Amino acid sequence: MKTDIKKIYHARGELPVPGDKSISPRAVMLGSLAGGTTEIKGFLKGADCLSTIDCFRSMGIDIDVNGDNVTVHGKGLYGLSEPKKTLYTGNSGTTTRLLCGILAGQNFNSDITGDASICKRPMKRVTEPLSLMGAKITGDYCPLHICGTKLHGVDYKMKVASAQVKTALILAGLYADGKTVIHEIEKSRDHTELMLGAMGADISVDGLDISVRAGRELLPQKIEVPGDISSAACWMVLGAIMPNSEITIKNVGINPTRTGIIDVFKFMHANMRIENVRSAAGEPVADITVSSSSLNGVEIGGDIIPRLIDEIPIIAAAAVFAQGETIIKDARELKVKETNRIRAVVDEFSKCGVDITETDDGMIIRGGKPINGADFKTYGDHRMAMSLTILSQLADGSSTLDDSACVDVSYPTFFEHFYKLGE
Ligand code: S3P
Repeated sequence: MKTDIKKIYHARGELPVPGDKSISPRAVMLGSLAGGTTEIKGFLKGADCLSTIDCFRSMGIDIDVNGDNVTVHGKGLYGLSEPKKTLYTGNSGTTTRLLCGILAGQNFNSDITGDASICKRPMKRVTEPLSLMGAKITGDYCPLHICGTKLHGVDYKMKVASAQVKTALILAGLYADGKTVIHEIEKSRDHTELMLGAMGADISVDGLDISVRAGRELLPQKIEVPGDISSAACWMVLGAIMPNSEITIKNVGINPTRTGIIDVFKFMHANMRIENVRSAAGEPVADITVSSSSLNGVEIGGDIIPRLIDEIPIIAAAAVFAQGETIIKDARELKVKETNRIRAVVDEFSKCGVDITETDDGMIIRGGKPINGADFKTYGDHRMAMSLTILSQLADGSSTLDDSACVDVSYPTFFEHFYKLGE
């Protein structure tokens, strides 16, 4: 349904953002595989993470949800039961790919499918390396059929910088005979390694190399999920581009594998403060304040890309209001996200007059020029909906979104928070 994007004229205030969309599903998955009760605080009740809960409930795990507190009654590594129906992962790539790693080594068969977007996302990047461990998975795209079987360790050099692929292999390693060694090409988010380490798994990390062995029972935990820096990124950009604005986002996860946007904001000369740095259940968190800024264009590429991959649409919005050129390169992975985010950003931003060019591995934006309102398409992609909402704030004229509800995937209270900042 087409909705008008409301305009605000400044953005001021302090707010927490919902829990992290990568840590929340990992907490449910690993909590289900632990022997006992894992208590999760600050769980993201976005559609993706609710899909994770549904899947594990379908495999016999009792999970209580009370606001953003979730209690997972884990049954141990071999406590899952055969699902009676196809596991439905909705829009969640993390749930789909990580499940492949867990289900490959079970003593039952299973099927996985998701929504139209998930059915277009490549699964071979996970099923191929898992097959080297002995996994029997059919389908390069969802629906996938998984015949649970005995797995063996492998020494594998990753072909893409993907935390989902890495994690699927680590999780399969918990069921494999011998040692599983994974060599990353670039460092991607390491929430699984941190959580498994805290749970007592036999896992070690040395730079880009990860080793894991089966044999140790996972210990249940109390997990505090930090606020998602990918959601906080919206308010960082809003605070920087709007006049007369200052936003403090409390309790944001600043794991160094996720803070590429903070580095980019420094390069762009944003007015930003990172304060109250502390640790929450093994993950670093802080409060981030951003105020109205004169941004500069920037070149973004190389090994920073996995550290800000989900923030590229919103960084592109910031670049529109920065002086000079912003070049984003080495970001081909954007083509296989919830939608092709290179194409989607270029097409939608062009509609309102942004000077933007698509490249094979990214985009070039020549910022600092006036833009107009437009009727935007989100392609059902939550990050497009949020980025377009923020982009349209400084446009001349009004704008609409074809599907604002898709923000539910990662940030159900996005519009509520947005209006509050504009009061
Ligand atoms: C995620 C990893 C990234 C990221 C996604 C969440 C994760 O995907 O884009 O939103 O939770 O591991 P890739 O592994 O495909 O890079």
